[in-house]
Amino acid sequence: MERLQKIIAESGFCSRRKAEEYIKLGKVFVNGEKVTELGTKASFGDYIVVDGKSLTKEEKVYFLLNKPRGYVSTVNDELGRKKITDLIETDKRVYPVGRLDYDTTGLIILTNDGELANILMHPSRGVEKTYIAKLNKIMLPKDQMILKSGINIDGIKCIPTRVKVRDIDYNKDTCIVEISIVEGRNHIIKNVFMKMGYLVDKLTRVEYGFLKLDNLKSGEYRELSIKEVKKLYEYKN
Ligand code: URA
Repeated sequence: MERLQKIIAESGFCSRRKAEEYIKLGKVFVNGEKVTELGTKASFGDYIVVDGKSLTKEEKVYFLLNKPRGYVSTVNDELGRKKITDLIETDKRVYPVGRLDYDTTGLIILTNDGELANILMHPSRGVEKTYIAKLNKIMLPKDQMILKSGINIDGIKCIPTRVKVRDIDYNKDTCIVEISIVEGRNHIIKNVFMKMGYLVDKLTRVEYGFLKLDNLKSGEYRELSIKEVKKLYEYKN
């Protein structure tokens, strides 16, 4: 049993907020009974009608996108900027699992499977994410040691699972660092480096758990296989 507004949203009919409005307006019927209480629970097996249309559970879809720079990874943007959801050709209402900044590129999953999204975004699940960061100066070996031991951001220590300087440009005084983390706070990579006095000039996510960007070009996407989806569900345990 789930909250009715959650079931309506997960069916892909509309957002959870909109579903709450429909409930309050008396436009939702469960097994023929009008429901106006927001806390009411139901199941997908129930016959649910919203605004005169019956709900059928929507087929789940899963996409892996190589996000280009200059796109927001939210479903709505008050500034009217380009959204990554616009890049995906589907008739389903997909949304991103977690966020990448407007100027960050790389691997992001989009789906209409709320259950999987919740599993993957939960901080305790430990999905490792790997980023390639171009820094505005060469990282000192002592700072690499400090980073490996963890950096305190807003009272919570972010301890990378891996840090590796991949390349150094002595002429330009810049470097490329590969860094893996488990947590998913917004802007976490930039904040970690900023705390140590470095600016991230470019950031790309190249791995999400066992998923890799591979040969996907910027703006390209592919569907996840059933095997990959099953493997992602294993993060639940
Ligand atoms: N950390 C950041 O700073 N930005 C991102 O987009 C992702 C992780």
